[in-house]
Amino acid sequence: MAKADIGLWGLAVMGENLVLNMESKGFTVAVFNRTTQKTKDFAEGKAKGKNIIPAYEVKDFIASLSKPRKVMLMVKAGKPVDMVIEQILPYLEKGDLIIDGGNSHFPDTIRRCSQIEGKGLLYIGTGVSGGEEGALKGPSIMPGGSEKAYAMAESIFTKISAKVDGRPCCTYIGDNGAGHYVKMVHNGIEYSDMQLICEAYYLMKNALGMSAEQMHKTFADWNKGDLDSYLIEITADILSKKDPVTGNPLVEMILDKAGQKGTGSWASQSALALGVAVPTIAEAVFARCISAVKDERLAASKQLSGPSGKYTGDKAEFITAIHDALYASKICSYAQGFALMAAAAKEYSWKPNFGRIAMIWRGGCIIRAQFLRRIKEAFDHKSDLANLLLDPYFKQIVQNAQPNWRKVIITAAELGIPVPAFSSALNYYDSYRTERLSANMIQAQRDYFGAHTYERLDRKGVFHTEWLAPPQLKNELF
Ligand code: 6PG
Repeated sequence: MAKADIGLWGLAVMGENLVLNMESKGFTVAVFNRTTQKTKDFAEGKAKGKNIIPAYEVKDFIASLSKPRKVMLMVKAGKPVDMVIEQILPYLEKGDLIIDGGNSHFPDTIRRCSQIEGKGLLYIGTGVSGGEEGALKGPSIMPGGSEKAYAMAESIFTKISAKVDGRPCCTYIGDNGAGHYVKMVHNGIEYSDMQLICEAYYLMKNALGMSAEQMHKTFADWNKGDLDSYLIEITADILSKKDPVTGNPLVEMILDKAGQKGTGSWASQSALALGVAVPTIAEAVFARCISAVKDERLAASKQLSGPSGKYTGDKAEFITAIHDALYASKICSYAQGFALMAAAAKEYSWKPNFGRIAMIWRGGCIIRAQFLRRIKEAFDHKSDLANLLLDPYFKQIVQNAQPNWRKVIITAAELGIPVPAFSSALNYYDSYRTERLSANMIQAQRDYFGAHTYERLDRKGVFHTEWLAPPQLKNELF
């Protein structure tokens, strides 16, 4: 029997669809799942008649692979990945490759990479984005590991990935955890993109009293312009879906409690650890957290008061203002994500190409959007761009959007409508463009209560003041 080009462990929807995708591109794929029934069902169902080899024992699974072997894991992040690695390692030999295609936390990938490479095997931790459909028709793939490891997987990855203008949405990201780091930032941006859209929808619904049908039309219309993206497209679709039980828009029948699996929170935690400001990404995580305490919010809504009411100005103008607020905020959120990746690259000695990352996010993944071409152009123009906001194109967009952006936030505040991501993005912009912030006061306070010292505007050095001493005492220079 012909040997398989690659083996895939983990037949949940993403795993199954990746297998079907690989097979459709001419690869023979061996499959294994912890529960054998799942493998049987797949073999007798979707995999029937295809170049897919089901295996029911780990030994047989590995034996069905051509050498050097390639095994891709599509299992839940965390312990399950380590457990599967432990089970396959005894059957693998030097030069074989293990690929983790789940949403693993990048420190785990760094650890696994070094453990496995220490045994003479190769390891790739790769982001795979695009959900079920992407896995089947072409995801965006963000692989990290050694270049040697990537060379082994490159032809499979590039063939199964999405294509934009004929180019694969897959590029080598960098060593060890780089691929999973970039996927984590992708997800952080995904969280903020989603939250920003939610705020736009919420303003349309509550400040303007728009119907689902009207909102559907607005989002569909936006999808033809600067905001053209998968998430705007699915939002338009969602708004047109009726609940078969009540006949109401289905979205209005869904409980307002957001779930999360951790990647947005990891991105925010990493930003905190690296000291990089990603307020819009973090706000998007917090917005999910506050949504999750529904019972508490219900009780609070009976006790805490605030303004309410509808916007009384020109509706069409306000819709345009929401559009501009969304676009400007989105640019800030991407600026934060790219700044975070740049800081991580320094910290972990990765050398990512940000233009290429923007390119591979143009297709297949959840945040795919036309405007990523602009990000690519920004990095082509200046590969060491400190912040996307400084790129001439984005500078102009944000400049033009400002009056409307501010108006939306002011109106939301007046109407008591929460817009945490819009506001945090504007605060990020205003902070970043401000020459002198208020942090001089923080430094003074820190020095006052803890002798933490401060620097001065007019002289070099580190200073401490005895704040309670009489004023004639001079500052001490360390
Ligand atoms: C993707 C997605 C995916 C993620 C889901 C759910 O790129 O395909 O990012 O990897 O798991 O979006 O994430 P949450 O459950 O945290 O919302």
